[in-house]
Amino acid sequence: MNEMTVTQKNTYVGKSITHESAHLHVSGKANYVDDIPEVEGTLYAGLGLAEIAHGKIINMDLSAVWQAEGVVSVLTGAELLHNNCGPVVADEPIIATDTVSFFGQVIFVVVAKTYQQAQQASRLAKVAYEALEPILTIEQAIARQSWILPPVQLTAGDANAKLAVAPYRLQGMAQVGGQEHFYLEGQICYAYPKEEDMLQVLCSTQHPTEMQLLISEAVGYGMHQVSVEVRRMGGGFGGKESQSAQWACITAILSVKLKRPVKLRLDRDTDMIVTGKRHGFAYQWDVGFDEQGMILGLYIQLASNCGSSTDLSGPVNDRAICHVDNGYYLDVVTIDSLRCKTNTVSNTAFRGFGGPQGMFPIEYIMDDIGYALDIDPLIIRQRNFYTAMSEQAGIDFSAENIDEIAPRSKTPYGTYVKDNILPDLVSKLAEHCDYFTRRETIKSFNEQSPIIKKGLALTPVKFGISFNATLFNQAGALVHIYTDGTILVNHGGTEMGQGLYSKIRQIVAHEFSLDLSKIRLSATDTAKVPNTSATAASSGTDLNGKAAQSACINIRNRLQTFAAELANTKPSQVQFKDGYIYASGQSWQFAEFIKLAYQARIQLWDSGFYKTPDIHWNPVLRYGRPFFYFAYGAAASEVAIDTLTGESKVLRVDILHDVGNSINPAIDIGQIEGGFIQGMGWLTSEELYWVPEGRKQGHLFTHAPSTYKIPTATDMPKIFNVKLYDNQNLENTIHRSKAVGEPPFMLALSVFSALRDAVSASITTPILQNGIKVKPFLSAPATPEAILQAIVNAKQLVNSQTHLSNLSNQ
Ligand code: MTE
Ligand code: MOS
Repeated sequence: MNEMTVTQKNTYVGKSITHESAHLHVSGKANYVDDIPEVEGTLYAGLGLAEIAHGKIINMDLSAVWQAEGVVSVLTGAELLHNNCGPVVADEPIIATDTVSFFGQVIFVVVAKTYQQAQQASRLAKVAYEALEPILTIEQAIARQSWILPPVQLTAGDANAKLAVAPYRLQGMAQVGGQEHFYLEGQICYAYPKEEDMLQVLCSTQHPTEMQLLISEAVGYGMHQVSVEVRRMGGGFGGKESQSAQWACITAILSVKLKRPVKLRLDRDTDMIVTGKRHGFAYQWDVGFDEQGMILGLYIQLASNCGSSTDLSGPVNDRAICHVDNGYYLDVVTIDSLRCKTNTVSNTAFRGFGGPQGMFPIEYIMDDIGYALDIDPLIIRQRNFYTAMSEQAGIDFSAENIDEIAPRSKTPYGTYVKDNILPDLVSKLAEHCDYFTRRETIKSFNEQSPIIKKGLALTPVKFGISFNATLFNQAGALVHIYTDGTILVNHGGTEMGQGLYSKIRQIVAHEFSLDLSKIRLSATDTAKVPNTSATAASSGTDLNGKAAQSACINIRNRLQTFAAELANTKPSQVQFKDGYIYASGQSWQFAEFIKLAYQARIQLWDSGFYKTPDIHWNPVLRYGRPFFYFAYGAAASEVAIDTLTGESKVLRVDILHDVGNSINPAIDIGQIEGGFIQGMGWLTSEELYWVPEGRKQGHLFTHAPSTYKIPTATDMPKIFNVKLYDNQNLENTIHRSKAVGEPPFMLALSVFSALRDAVSASITTPILQNGIKVKPFLSAPATPEAILQAIVNAKQLVNSQTHLSNLSNQ
């Protein structure tokens, strides 16, 4: 069937249409799991948590828990049939039995008649522990070779050889903290038994199928006995991919055991204590470069805090490895990836999925090189970019001499960067935001301003789209046209505020050229579309949009054939336009035509399936084409710091971002703004602090909004310009759009670079290492304390240097 004949100059795809639930969100009518009316007899679960970071449970006296008011039952790990909720490796107990491996680990669960009773009873256990020394930091883990997964290395070329001959060489180190997801709706699950050992589960999760699987294992059911439904989440951000499993399993186990509906909702503090977060990383590197600032060779070690169980740490760290290059050509590089096992909560997916942590050090290095050579870091960045697309247009990437005809295009993991628009995008942004003029203005400002110092940075993003593991790149959808001409769509993706349902609705409206009001989406449900992947890796619309489109095309083909029969013409002559069907002089209103089709016994519903083409990945060699394409963007951020207090403010941000052909520009811009601000929080104010020693060793100190600071409306930059780069996806994605969920998060690296630029402006004499100028060190998150510390350290280094040279002059 020829798609072109029915593709209209469309009214729905490409339009800034309001989020399908916006009116429900703002009026409080949107249903989240806790809003759904409860079934009579519902019981509530409360969690008993370990109070040490590492040790053995010697004795657990639960008698007071059992005796507490309203308590119906208490569950311990020993009773469980299959005590695991780890998604990849079965190393994560649902309820810990004898060993405690992090503070806040669940050691028992109590069920009571009310939520309050469950909370109160959960605190009445008397537990005796034999404490063991915990590993709380990456450094401690490395010293003790404590790995959750064996170290991994990716090598391209001979980095040592290049480093030995490079005209300039710098060794460095840096670190970046983890991050709490801080979704507005906390983790929640509600399960109730149905007839003949069936279980209905309502869960706030990005991964209904995984919940279904882990629940079925935990209760000993077949997957066909468990249905998991998700209408929407109040945010997920990766924190409800694997992290929803433990709560789903607990609720399901209790529901089956007691034959009652059971609900488990975590309050904010508990949620922050018991759920995994973004992996914090520590880096060490050795980089060689020339007079122009071109990187000749790089050795880098990435070490991440994976926490106490495997979770998604394998793929997160693999993605980090695949993003060390960001937008830069690194032909000679060795990357060591250490996956540290510690006694903290198990770290997990978080927007960017290791990508942000992979890119962090290379942007740090770009700033170092610029500083060492006295060249603007933007110029260093531009020089190191992969070859621009314009030079590559028309190149056959399967040609044998590809490395000659497309030089500087191959990533260290073997993928070619075919559509590199970064050089153009970055120079356009630099021009639009007056980067170089403002650089001069800031320089003179800093010369006259002793206390407030400003900084500026422009950093790029190149982010690979697709799940690294090829198998997850598949999706399904169901489209039903009812006899009145209205359409109900179901697909495997979940809605977490990102606008997936809205985009799918536009895609379906486009295929039938029908008003949006005729199309609704039903809650994601494992009983409708099975075997789904997590809504993650930003690929929700790419995968489910194509699947939904394919279901629509199946139905439309039948309708077209039928209309052609009625009008005695060819199917290719049939047009769907603005709610009507036209064929050779005849026309029908859509609903009217559907009635005819139904009477003629034409199937009015269908399924669609999609798998991303042309991707492959060798997980052992870490080589291949894991990503279908790259999404690009760049941001320029201007900041000011107070050198006496360490406080900082983001003054102005300009973003130019590539979403291909946007399906919904308003939603995409919302994702860019939201992603950027969330990234800014990660790099500036959001600090996770585990008490390093003493009675509360290993406790998460920052377990509430009072001690953990996410950005608020007042932290928004006063000037915040976000524009979409005019570009269509080179690859055949849904309407040639590009994924947008995660890539903009990494635009916030510009804020960190700008802060470091401002810190550097606070010293007048440069710090030297083997005669090379070294930019002051700044750790991330760049909290006021970190900024102040950076300034103090830099000034001390300058003073001791001056002191030494004075001595030698005497
Ligand atoms: N936007 C909102 N409002 N809420 C979220 O939880 N999650 C992010 C991103 N944008 C998130 C969000 C993450 S981590 C991902 S992977 C994508 O959305 C997932 O959705 P998509 O694949 O449909 O873009
Ligand atoms: Mo997003 S971290 O892939 O859920």
